[in-house]
Amino acid sequence: MTSRQHYGAPPDALAPQEAPSDGLDQPVVGIGAPDVRAAVRGAGHPPREIPPYVGARLRHPRRPPVPVRDPDAVELRGPVFGATDVGPLDHDLTAHHRGEPLGERITVSGRVLDRRGRPVAGQLTEIWQANAAGRYAHQLDRHHAPLDPHFTGYGRCLTDAEGRYAFTTIRPGAYPWDNHTNAWRPGHIHFSLFGTAFTQRLITQMYFPGDPLLAYDPILHAVSDEAARGRLVAAYAPELSVPDRSLGYHWDIVLDGPSATAFEEAAR
Ligand SMILES: [Fe+2]
Repeated sequence: MTSRQHYGAPPDALAPQEAPSDGLDQPVVGIGAPDVRAAVRGAGHPPREIPPYVGARLRHPRRPPVPVRDPDAVELRGPVFGATDVGPLDHDLTAHHRGEPLGERITVSGRVLDRRGRPVAGQLTEIWQANAAGRYAHQLDRHHAPLDPHFTGYGRCLTDAEGRYAFTTIRPGAYPWDNHTNAWRPGHIHFSLFGTAFTQRLITQMYFPGDPLLAYDPILHAVSDEAARGRLVAAYAPELSVPDRSLGYHWDIVLDGPSATAFEEAAR
């Protein structure tokens, strides 16, 4: 998420001496995939410990979940979202400031579906991402790339009756991170789906087709199943392109079942 860290981990959590220095600047297949496969417990979902992804060990609980005796009571104290909480321009990340952000303007749209292919309507869908230069507007991001005063990098919308979401944004740039020598994350957009309650929140990442960095990314390859990895990559969709405005990308999100999108920290 940031150039040096993912949110939730202390800034110095990935000390250089703890990161492997050699070998990991190779395509992930062939260096880490066997270890990843051995650690996978679910079909396509990433394991908690991912050897090529050095920081993974800092990003998951080490203790068993705390049983909730009264789930309804928990929800009463949690956030509640509705249509009135989503502004008319929240889905357009290029319209959040006075000026236009720099970069390749894109439209990303798709449907949120359940395991039977039925649309999930009214789903709060949120995204966050780096700017075109690969820099997050976040205090922990110390990548030496320019911030864009016209781009904050987060947005949200509710899916319509057909389960469809749509965002207008900027294609995010690649950014370096401290996982290993010369490690660069492929361009990606983080997605969050809140479900019907805070405790159902699912998070994943969408990638772009043809990105040469896909083969080198330990986070993408934490999803061991090739088909499941492929489902994390959007498709160029000229029908979604807006003439003289933006390039279109199509990406569906399937919540569960054999064709499910791989989510981070999936249900176990
Ligand atoms: Fe990121």
